[in-house]
Amino acid sequence: MKESLEILEREIMNGFKAARSAVDIDNLKKKYLARKGPLAALIKELAGLPAEERRILGEAINEAKKRIEGVLDDALATLRGAEKSERLGKERLDVTLPGRSLPSGRIHPVTSVTSEIEDIFTSLGFEIAEGPEVELDYYNFEALNIPKDHPARDMQDTFYLSGGVCLRTHTSPVQIRVMEKRRPPLRVIAPGTVYRRDSDITHTPMFHQVEGFMVDEGVSFSALKGVLTHFLHRLFGEDTGVRFRPSFFPFTEPSAEVDIRCVMCAGKGCRVCKGSGWLEILGCGMIHPNVFKSVDYDYGRYSGFAFGLGIERIAMLKHGIDDIRLFFENDIRFLRQF
Ligand code: DAH
Repeated sequence: MKESLEILEREIMNGFKAARSAVDIDNLKKKYLARKGPLAALIKELAGLPAEERRILGEAINEAKKRIEGVLDDALATLRGAEKSERLGKERLDVTLPGRSLPSGRIHPVTSVTSEIEDIFTSLGFEIAEGPEVELDYYNFEALNIPKDHPARDMQDTFYLSGGVCLRTHTSPVQIRVMEKRRPPLRVIAPGTVYRRDSDITHTPMFHQVEGFMVDEGVSFSALKGVLTHFLHRLFGEDTGVRFRPSFFPFTEPSAEVDIRCVMCAGKGCRVCKGSGWLEILGCGMIHPNVFKSVDYDYGRYSGFAFGLGIERIAMLKHGIDDIRLFFENDIRFLRQF
């Protein structure tokens, strides 16, 4: 029996020498030290021995067992530690590496100028209205006192769809659509997309305008001047020079164009203002009696002003952009700058 014990211990130690990993050691433990393993079987055999022999062999077995356990457990601890630090080494993160940034979207400059204009007018009590982009000839021209022979009606300028229907060439038809449904007092702006057969560095076939109008009893030209001057000061800065020039639009009488001091050269004269020191910014005027007639308003009782401006033009001036087509090419490198 003593011999069997020695053989068993040698076998285990040989197994131990061959072990390469914590799992191997663990398997050895399971195989030899288990409750029904070979060492336990030896202890069972002790029962049949005389007392003296049983004591001596019992002690020998216990010592062998302790030795084996000690060796295996030490090795297990060392191997597990080594395996853990190897794993940690492989998994180590370099926290000093720059992070991956999440690309974030930007507001399109046309959208942000539109909101800016909306904010200014809503703070003055104007409300926001919309109208269709596919518009009847009646609203786009007829009701706005634009006669049949007006050049704007030419096939060269307007996208016609079918008889009596076109893509609106301006936001002015929203004036008619709102006034047709409602009665004064009215303070309304109507931002939106418009279409013209035009394309070069300052024109695109699709662009954006903001229309505005105010109708009530006693609305005067000085109200028009006051509101628009205030608006332009808020949009371009308190010190911006503003001037009104007589002009012509079929739907207003009298009509005016409004210029601001050139924001590029502060009025000295440059390429953008073509040397004049002024930039044309919007068209406006007092709503024409024929327009009131088409919406059945009493011209003797009510008066009003209207204005219209191009949003891209404003965005170009605010950001110093010299080609309108950039707005619609969706080049991320351009859009990221705003
Ligand atoms: N509808 C004109 C255009 O597209 C702009 C305009 C001028 C609108 C004068 C108005 C106005 O309401 O009074 O060129």
